[in-house]
Amino acid sequence: MGKNKVEWWKTAIIYQIYPLSFMDSNSDGIGDLQGIISKLSYLKNLGIDVIWLSPVYQSPMDDNGYDISDYLKIDPIFGTMKDMQELIKQTHDFGMKIIMDLVVNHTSDEHPWFKFAKESKNSPYRDFYIWNDQPNEIDSVFGGSAWTYEGQSEQYYFHLFSHKQPDLNWQNKKLREEIYRIINWWLDQGIDGFRLDVIDLIGKDVKSKMLSDGPFLIEYLNELNQNCFANRDVMTVGEMPGLSIERAAEITAGEHPLLNMVFQFTHISLDEMPNLGKWALKKLDLTELKQVFNKMQHLMYRNGWNSLFLANHDQPRAVSRFGDINYRLESSKMLYTMLYGMQGTPYVYQGEEIGMTGIDFEINQYRDLETLNIYEILSKKKLSHDEIMKSIHMKSRDNSRTPFQWDDQPYAGFSKSKPWIDVNLNYIEINAKKDIEDPNGVYLYFKKLFKLRKSFPVFENGNFNLIDRNHPSLFIYERKNEKEKLLIVSSFSNLVERIDLSNYRGMKCIISNQECIELSKDSQFPPFYTAIYYKGSDSSVND
Ligand code: GLC
Ligand code: CA
Repeated sequence: MGKNKVEWWKTAIIYQIYPLSFMDSNSDGIGDLQGIISKLSYLKNLGIDVIWLSPVYQSPMDDNGYDISDYLKIDPIFGTMKDMQELIKQTHDFGMKIIMDLVVNHTSDEHPWFKFAKESKNSPYRDFYIWNDQPNEIDSVFGGSAWTYEGQSEQYYFHLFSHKQPDLNWQNKKLREEIYRIINWWLDQGIDGFRLDVIDLIGKDVKSKMLSDGPFLIEYLNELNQNCFANRDVMTVGEMPGLSIERAAEITAGEHPLLNMVFQFTHISLDEMPNLGKWALKKLDLTELKQVFNKMQHLMYRNGWNSLFLANHDQPRAVSRFGDINYRLESSKMLYTMLYGMQGTPYVYQGEEIGMTGIDFEINQYRDLETLNIYEILSKKKLSHDEIMKSIHMKSRDNSRTPFQWDDQPYAGFSKSKPWIDVNLNYIEINAKKDIEDPNGVYLYFKKLFKLRKSFPVFENGNFNLIDRNHPSLFIYERKNEKEKLLIVSSFSNLVERIDLSNYRGMKCIISNQECIELSKDSQFPPFYTAIYYKGSDSSVND
């Protein structure tokens, strides 16, 4: 039991699909399960091992499926349970695995539990949620109070996200048991694990305002693990936005970790003004980014396991955010070489593998409720339209939610009808068909990078050593085990950068986004250069 488990997720490449925007099979403008099935060979060919599906359960779609009204049904916009079973089977037939998104910090207000709960204070479901006569000062992540008055039973209910996402009360044992039943039902369908949405919040104590990493977190994670995961060969990754790197290391450490991996957000919060939230922009300081990764790599080297990600459905496109779209191909590859050279499990967010970029929409083109809310809120604070739009263009979650750009046909080959959200107009220039055919494209580069990761054990087990930590625009690190050594060089600069790397002379360049530059006393790296250099006992390394 639990022993001698093969930790397959440690060497896996995981691909996140945002089903609404991936591929539409029936021309209603909305991505769906059959659409995903039709693209499995595309993913397999890229070198993907595991697919993570953002939620496809029945939902009113207030927060694009992160508001679930029935955990055991597939929303009709995505297809049927039969489609889901087919997707699971076909994914497995391709030799890949599939994990689902699990949203159990809250439900939709249209979930039967909430409908029963609000009927009266004496409802047997009342305590599945969090109620109070008076609100306290806690704010919702999407803006405004976290409390909404419910007229029928005359109390306020608590919701850390939209008012259509009431928080579940994990302190209720019956509720926890219901959740374990749902999880086990899905695992019995043959899925290979879960990404657990904002799971850092389930141990909260609302009265004392302890939300993330609350007093009951470890107890509930442990119980969850024992009831659902411990005896199965599945993987878990917990989204934990409020968690520190230290805590992420603890939670993923040991022979029987509470979660296999954690998404924590320190590295992608560095372009925000501290404590002012995501909309207050700050220029990224590369030395800070290096420090954070350095800490993550060291803390989780023998204890715990890193998840390697730069983008997801809540975060802007990496190239628009941390790279330079004037050097789109170079900087897309550079960012992911910097990231995937590290120890941990690589996550690819759909579209990153072809260098898709963010959007500069007009306000009425945005669909994300968080974006629309913040526009209202900042307008009331008398910020100018232009100022607000600047933040929205940089940070809106819709940056990464526009339809996948498959080819240069209308609607980018995503659908035959107008999609639920506009396509990025650069699809003629940037699309999968064109990128794959380009020997210099991002897709083939990712593919080669994934192959390399699987060829050399040092990617999995090598230690991490940051070089020249104060250099403002070069991110260089070493990975080393007993037999092999890697040097990963990434330039965040649009100028030529020179550095003395004579200590590394003779190492072999195994991948680069440009012509390989030799390591020497005066190495001169062109804009957004990246490369991995290798030295090992294996002399058969060739390009
Ligand atoms: C997570 C999801 C995000 C969602 C929120 C509430 O952060 O990734 O999309 O809005 O939780 O469920
Ligand atoms: Ca569809």
